[in-house]
Amino acid sequence: GAERDRVIERIKTLLKEQDATLVAHYYVHEDLQMLAEQTGGCVSDSLDMARFGKEHPASTLVVAGVRFMGETAKILSPEKRVIMPTLEAECSLDLGCPADEFITFCDQHPDRTVVVYANTSAEVKARADYVATSSIAVKLVEHLKDEGRKILWAPDRHLGAYIQKTTGADMVLWHTACVVHDEFRTRALKDLQQAHPDAAVLVHPESPAGVIELADAVGSTSQLIQAARELPHETLIVATDSGIFYKMRQAAPHKTFLEAPTGGHSATCRSCAHCPWMAMNGLGNLLEVLEKGGNEIHVEETVRQGALRSTQRMLDFAS
Ligand code: 13P
Ligand code: SF4
Repeated sequence: GAERDRVIERIKTLLKEQDATLVAHYYVHEDLQMLAEQTGGCVSDSLDMARFGKEHPASTLVVAGVRFMGETAKILSPEKRVIMPTLEAECSLDLGCPADEFITFCDQHPDRTVVVYANTSAEVKARADYVATSSIAVKLVEHLKDEGRKILWAPDRHLGAYIQKTTGADMVLWHTACVVHDEFRTRALKDLQQAHPDAAVLVHPESPAGVIELADAVGSTSQLIQAARELPHETLIVATDSGIFYKMRQAAPHKTFLEAPTGGHSATCRSCAHCPWMAMNGLGNLLEVLEKGGNEIHVEETVRQGALRSTQRMLDFAS
């Protein structure tokens, strides 16, 4: 309505006035994805969010996503002001890998190269040799394996098991899972596949192994959108956060999209596969942070330098 349009115009003005750019993840509300597109910001997966934030000349980055994405932006661009619509947006993988326990685990495996998912705190990244996102994790571990290295992977156990299976690398795994992707169900997905035999199945690798096994394409959010565009199938069953449909429909407007079934699926839950923390970002708190300030990401300088080493290695490997 008119109020929403007013808020959007006000946000656009404030972004300009503050030399700020909006960096959004595919899982946030489509209003925010649209705003990022319209204002020259970016909507992307976590690797491209990191790259974009680092390369963009704006002095303020407004990161619409979850905390680790804001932290990664700050790790790479300490000179920029990094703010978020909310600082409450966590990630179950980050929460499931506290730095002190993680450091003890690493100390128990001194012979292993430590590779951590980007969905971790700056403290955890500071203890790691490499950071990886889902778009490059398999390639990175493949490369490290070819160098003869044994791997310690944290924190997502499904992604870890998938990398292990794909590369055959010697890996020990941390045990956490994503609360959203862990809910996808193998049996129900098989039933849906049977009902739609011509459909392709697109799966984010944070999903359980049985779900990944049924996939025609496995990859990061950007890679899944690319698969939606490029695969010949007219119907696509998608096992990832439902926020992705905004971009997927743009990428393949004539295709039919079905949500992969989750354990929590019920008549009262229209879209169960949606990250509760991503959902905390909205037009309201975006406007508020631009108007009032606050919600700034700070990373202690020694931690930042440690995390920069492993994060920069990711960017160097990815380029
Ligand atoms: P991507 O890097 O694939 O965007 O994944 C981030 C994430 O949090 C998935 O749940
Ligand atoms: Fe973390 Fe899962 Fe939410 Fe992604 S969807 S931010 S992995 S809790």
